[in-house]
Amino acid sequence: MSFQIAIDGPAGAGKSTIARKVAKEKGFIYVDTGAMYRAMAYYLLCQGVSPNDDEEIGRKCSAADITICYEKGEQIVLLNGKNVNDVIRTEEVSRMASMSSKHPQVRKRLTQLQKELARTSDVVMDGRDIGTCVLPDADVKVYLTASVEVRAKRRYDELTAKHVVCDLGQIAEDIAQRDEQDMTRDIAPLKQAKDAVLVDSSHMTIDEVAKKILDLCEAL
Ligand code: DC
Repeated sequence: MSFQIAIDGPAGAGKSTIARKVAKEKGFIYVDTGAMYRAMAYYLLCQGVSPNDDEEIGRKCSAADITICYEKGEQIVLLNGKNVNDVIRTEEVSRMASMSSKHPQVRKRLTQLQKELARTSDVVMDGRDIGTCVLPDADVKVYLTASVEVRAKRRYDELTAKHVVCDLGQIAEDIAQRDEQDMTRDIAPLKQAKDAVLVDSSHMTIDEVAKKILDLCEAL
């Protein structure tokens, strides 16, 4: 049996940084499921699909072949065979991903792939529905969150470090809107699994959060 660590939580809570660190420490693969939803969103944008056109999303999503592979321990997302890692982190893709991930066909396709990865490898998987839907029997489940203000400031610092001009208030608004969308959708909404451990990272360092998760693994 593979060992499964599921980390769910809202955008900007630090899931990917923590999950990557824990995976490295344990020698597991890190599966960033958000990147898969982003690759699908990128595909739909390239096809000129509107985020509000549910029918067209359903029709077009089946032509997107999304897989992942690993290079030097880093996850590479392949969309129809092409590495899209560098083009899926824009605000436009974030907004589209939040809309298109509500779609049942999009979720069905990506969930299957995620379950298969966790069946064959020890994983740290992060997303919104990992502990609730994708890996309901995960060995360790964590719901990682932080206040909207802290998450917006982290994103603002990240962007300004890359010399991107941005507005803290606008980022906070976008984050709050995406939380609302992710938490209120009909299928696989973002919520804490009953058996997940709640970790609020607002006032914790990356190392402290990673240690907390590693301790949970040790305590089994
Ligand atoms: O974690 P992220 O910001 O890269 O995720 C992008 C979008 O994909 C986000 O709006 C929620 C959605 N998502 C999802 O619905 N289910 C997942 N398991 C992971 C991400």
